[in-house]
Amino acid sequence: MPKDSLTITDNRTGKTYEVPVTDGTIRAMDLRQMRVDEQDFGLMSYDPAYMNTAACRSSITFIDGDKGILRYRGYDVAELAEKSTYLEVAYLVLHGELPTKAELTSFSNEVTTHTFLHENVRNFISGFRYDAHPMGVLIGTCGALSTFYPESKEVKDATIRRMQVVRLMAKMPTIAAWSYRHSMGFPFVYPDNSLSYPGNLLSMMKKMAEEKYEPNPIIERALDVLFIMHADHEQNCSTTAIRTVGSSLVDPYSAVAGAAAALYGPLHGGANEAVLRMLSQIGSVKNVPDFIAEVKSGNDKRLMGFGHRVYKSYDPRAKVIKKLADEVFQVTGRSPLLDIALELEKYALNDEYFVKRKLYPNVDFYSGLIYQAIGFPVDMFPVLFAIPRTVGWLAQWEELLADNEQKIARPRQIYTGYDERKYVAVERRMSASHAAHAPSAPQAK
Ligand code: CMC
Repeated sequence: MPKDSLTITDNRTGKTYEVPVTDGTIRAMDLRQMRVDEQDFGLMSYDPAYMNTAACRSSITFIDGDKGILRYRGYDVAELAEKSTYLEVAYLVLHGELPTKAELTSFSNEVTTHTFLHENVRNFISGFRYDAHPMGVLIGTCGALSTFYPESKEVKDATIRRMQVVRLMAKMPTIAAWSYRHSMGFPFVYPDNSLSYPGNLLSMMKKMAEEKYEPNPIIERALDVLFIMHADHEQNCSTTAIRTVGSSLVDPYSAVAGAAAALYGPLHGGANEAVLRMLSQIGSVKNVPDFIAEVKSGNDKRLMGFGHRVYKSYDPRAKVIKKLADEVFQVTGRSPLLDIALELEKYALNDEYFVKRKLYPNVDFYSGLIYQAIGFPVDMFPVLFAIPRTVGWLAQWEELLADNEQKIARPRQIYTGYDERKYVAVERRMSASHAAHAPSAPQAK
């Protein structure tokens, strides 16, 4: 009968240890007992970028990157995209079960009645520079909301927590739309609570002189499906950020601002913006082979919207979104950049460089084209990712707070700097260029 354990021989000491294997993992803390002598701190594991480290237990999202599977609470995303609304999925992500009709009505009402922002928020959004990137505005405004709801720091109180979850979900579209209106110099549009979650966002972004904005149902549904696709994605960079920031027990507005900041980067939520810029730069289908050759030449140019840390096959979200693009283009007209994207995909999927590295289109490859067709500027793309991901961040934050094994996040390091040095008075110090000729810093011991 095989044992669920690992036997490790420490060749430095000749000692043998047996450590339990649970759920295909060993505990890094079990390594600490392996020491060369009494003074030794004990063995650590080294894992930059958490390539092979599970830092939590989670029951929210399941991904099998090799098979291209993504499920929220056990439900396949493609089926949810076909049959559910975003608010239904948000409820599922938060509570673990799909809502009954009554639960969904009550949840939708809750979210819809908290969409308004304090008027002071409006004033300080107006204070941003005229060309402020809307993601910068979103991050700043989201963090600032903690000052409007000081009770939110009571993170151990489930009722208070729940209130902030609803507020954040409800107010994110308003902040997003106002950051856009500000950058355009358009007057701010107040929420229309008679509209659906995506319909209200469209109204706040697009409404001009008309009395009531009526969203196109195909565009409204497309946005809802895109939101479903972005609701959660287990321990990605921004989710790791909210778990890390939240582990200090800070309020959820500050923690969500931290997650949104992580999302802003071009390797994460900024990628769909980068895809569109890349497609525009390529300019024409005939330039695709040269662009691919440049990516392969290793000069640090990447095919944006391709590759993923966990998906080593077609990203299941990209499949749904590619189909959605066709539906949207029937309303908006076909984007000229689509042909470039299709050509890039065709080239890459048949090219040894990409095949060998298992680089396939990810969620961002086609989502930007849809957003652009709907009329959103590229600066808004990461913001449109942050809105639906807020529920994923908050579900993960709730899970973190309920997990007795979690503590403040605090990784270890391998120190590579100097040993203790003698202080040198300022008049006797060498300049940096002189110091460059001085003996170099010792390597880690
Ligand atoms: N274009 C060209 N080469 C690539 C790409 C790409 N998009 N992605 C990875 N590679 C190469 C990389 O150069 C490396 O090659 P080599 O082994 O010769 O050094 C190999 O593939 C492995 O890459 P990696 O950087 O070690 O992989 P990673 O898991 O650390 O990075 C990634 C994942 C998403 C950051 C990366 O694939 C990437 O930069 N993609 C482009 C940006 C992008 O589309 N990001 C959106 C991710 S999906 C949305 C989200 O969930 O945030």
